[in-house]
Amino acid sequence: MTDHRIALIPGDGIGAEVLPPAVAVLDRVGARHGVTFRYDEFDWSCTRYLAEGAMMPADGLDRIRHHDAILLGAVGWPGVPDHVSLWGLLIPIRRQFRQYVNLRPIRVFEGVPTPVLGAVPGMDFVVVRENVEGEYSEVGGRFNRGFPDEMAVQEAIFTRPGVTRILDYAFDLAATRRGHVTSATKSNGIVHTMPFWDELVVEAGARHPNVEWRQEHIDALVAKVVLDPSRFDVIVGSNLFGDILSDLAAAVAGSIGIAPAGNIDPSGEFPSMFEPVHGSAPDIAGQGVANPLGAIWSASMMLDHLGHPEAGAEVLAAVTAVLANSPVRTRDLGGTASTDEFTTAVLDTLPPPRT
Ligand code: NAD
Ligand code: IPM
Ligand code: MN
Repeated sequence: MTDHRIALIPGDGIGAEVLPPAVAVLDRVGARHGVTFRYDEFDWSCTRYLAEGAMMPADGLDRIRHHDAILLGAVGWPGVPDHVSLWGLLIPIRRQFRQYVNLRPIRVFEGVPTPVLGAVPGMDFVVVRENVEGEYSEVGGRFNRGFPDEMAVQEAIFTRPGVTRILDYAFDLAATRRGHVTSATKSNGIVHTMPFWDELVVEAGARHPNVEWRQEHIDALVAKVVLDPSRFDVIVGSNLFGDILSDLAAAVAGSIGIAPAGNIDPSGEFPSMFEPVHGSAPDIAGQGVANPLGAIWSASMMLDHLGHPEAGAEVLAAVTAVLANSPVRTRDLGGTASTDEFTTAVLDTLPPPRT
């Protein structure tokens, strides 16, 4: 019997609706594989912020740093500025726990029509997003507030170690897949950081002679993701480019409700955090219609990360089978199922417990 201690942070809006399905799936598949989960739930959210003035307690990170992994729903709610809620919770976890890899796989599921191309056979790639530096930075400032010369300055930080380690991660990942990396930059317009990134890609390519790679400008690249998504294997990009690419890719595959993310500290020193790519979706929150697939797939990634890849694969296989063999799907995928109905279909499709 393996026992894992998981920190659960449901957060706001549909975050709290998609996390219970992920937990139900984990418990069911865990029982089959001799894995038990002990959960500690934290109410860190915009609701907490409005009541207590902080997204999480001052010692919040200490309370979760010894868990085996973190499962998060989504954070952010109207009434609390997004930069306050996200920099008060999600981003400190990513940074202080050195989760410098944001792993965002995407694929098209049989039976799910995609909005652009109908069916996209073979679309199956991973966005490797740099997760702790880049355009997301606190360096800069607001000046001359309220005056005609008002301005805002926002610095982007790209360090040799920071870029090198995410590139190496992407190349190593590609070596276990179809052996191809696409690096997204904008070196024709952003003249310091992006050419630097391109140079480091050349170095990473030389360290990984078994992996083919290509540099593409982000503007042309996004068009290809829409029009010819099956050509990609691993796409590596900066914090901002990786963020945008991952929602785009998920929408191309059917809905942003399906996409998972792993915020990984590859050293294992800190817990890694698994969460759907999507946000709290205030427009559909409270209706019980959110697609839990992104959260369930994130739980499957967590199983892989914790050393239970067979269990993770069973989860993905169950989701795939529900979509391929039944009409059960949520509204965002053109169906009528509720969050609970889709979850029940996945639970019923998982292999039965071993006796
Ligand atoms: P969003 O992802 O919440 O929603 C965008 C659109 O996609 C909405 O129309 C929504 O209904 C739909 N959608 C998203 N997830 C869905 C699901 N599982 N099933 C069905 N439909 C789904 O993005 P947003 O509107 O830009 O952000 C809302 C809030 O969430 C903001 O406060 C934002 O900062 C926050 N946010 C948080 C995270 C996170 O915690 N990791 C990620 C993204 C956005
Ligand atoms: C995501 C989200 C966050 C990000 C926001 C909410 C800060 O969009 O996890 O993709 O940009 O990282
Ligand atoms: Mn995003």
